[in-house]
Amino acid sequence: MKFEIAPNVYWVGKIDWELRKFHGEEYSTHRGSSYNSYLVKDEKIALIDTVWMPFAKEFVGNLAKEVDLDAIDYVIANHAEMDHSGALPELMRHIPDTPVYCTANGVKSLKGHYHQNWNFQVVKTGDTLSLGNKELVFIEAMMLHWPDSMMSYLTGDAILFSNDAFGQHIASESMFNDLVVQSELFEEATKYYANILTPFSPLVAKKINEVMALNLPVNAICPSHGVIWRDNPLQIAQKYLQWAADYQENQITIIYDTMWDGTRMLAEHIAKGIKQKDDTVTVKLCNIARSDINDVVTEVFKSKAILVGSPTINRGILNAMAAFLEMITGLRFKNKKAAAFGCYGWSGESIKILTDHLTNAGFAVMNDGLKAMWQPSDEALTQALEFGEEFAGKV
Ligand code: FEO
Repeated sequence: MKFEIAPNVYWVGKIDWELRKFHGEEYSTHRGSSYNSYLVKDEKIALIDTVWMPFAKEFVGNLAKEVDLDAIDYVIANHAEMDHSGALPELMRHIPDTPVYCTANGVKSLKGHYHQNWNFQVVKTGDTLSLGNKELVFIEAMMLHWPDSMMSYLTGDAILFSNDAFGQHIASESMFNDLVVQSELFEEATKYYANILTPFSPLVAKKINEVMALNLPVNAICPSHGVIWRDNPLQIAQKYLQWAADYQENQITIIYDTMWDGTRMLAEHIAKGIKQKDDTVTVKLCNIARSDINDVVTEVFKSKAILVGSPTINRGILNAMAAFLEMITGLRFKNKKAAAFGCYGWSGESIKILTDHLTNAGFAVMNDGLKAMWQPSDEALTQALEFGEEFAGKV
């Protein structure tokens, strides 16, 4: 499959309809994904990024039908992560001397991955590469989201090849933003930001403002995953600026795990209390052991506050909750409030463990938490309801 984005600018990547997990098992991709590679033909020919290694032979075979591989003058590696560089070994086997343009950190990563001494050409922000009538301008984007990340801007057609930034894990036959269901597009773009870019939000805002300040025309933004932004392309940059500003909606999410339903009963009564106090707030409950962890992270991203609940087991907390807390600690959410709750039988350490995790993860913990011994009594459930009301009042 190949399609035209602008005259002599083509998508030549791979749509991965079957992908359901990405980054190993870390990220769920309910709608598949795509690895976007772009071919720019001018007096010189440039290939921007490749695809994941399992599709390397298919990718190079298809590419060879579109262009004589020996006619490719430049390979641009915007990012060394294997979903975009995985076909480089197969490609470079055919064209071993073709220069590979990337950042200095890109050289380190690509050498680290493939142990090859390709003809690397190091570029920095502002460096240009003439293709004849048009040129590529390189923009380093360190830690968005790897040290080596960069973007490439094509003059003339005014296309920003943004790599991971502005991407979404979507497989579609309609690879433009105006052709897909908007709610699905923004759901996936939000999930992508929440799960991948949240820790780098200060850098996201800085880089977007830096690029916007150049006042370059932008006719399209071509990310390395999902659909191309051609209809009002800067709308996604504006969204990123909102998301980077410690984003929150009027939502409280209650995330819990439960053994014999006691902690679930607390969760549901806390939710009732929150709604009693403030019926404008969106309240969502997620059993973390039965929910997709990345979808729950997206709910946390949208929340102004969260409550986390686990019963005590073996002086600790349930393992699905532990994994979730580890994930949100790494994502470094800011400007969100939190509290803990849970049932216990005899020792009851879970509240302190949950509270410590929330504090370490950067949440403002609002109280000492709510504990209920054994299965919650009517009195304990009333306390849970009041706990929810009080929490809603504080957030
Ligand atoms: Fe899509 Fe950072 O790779």
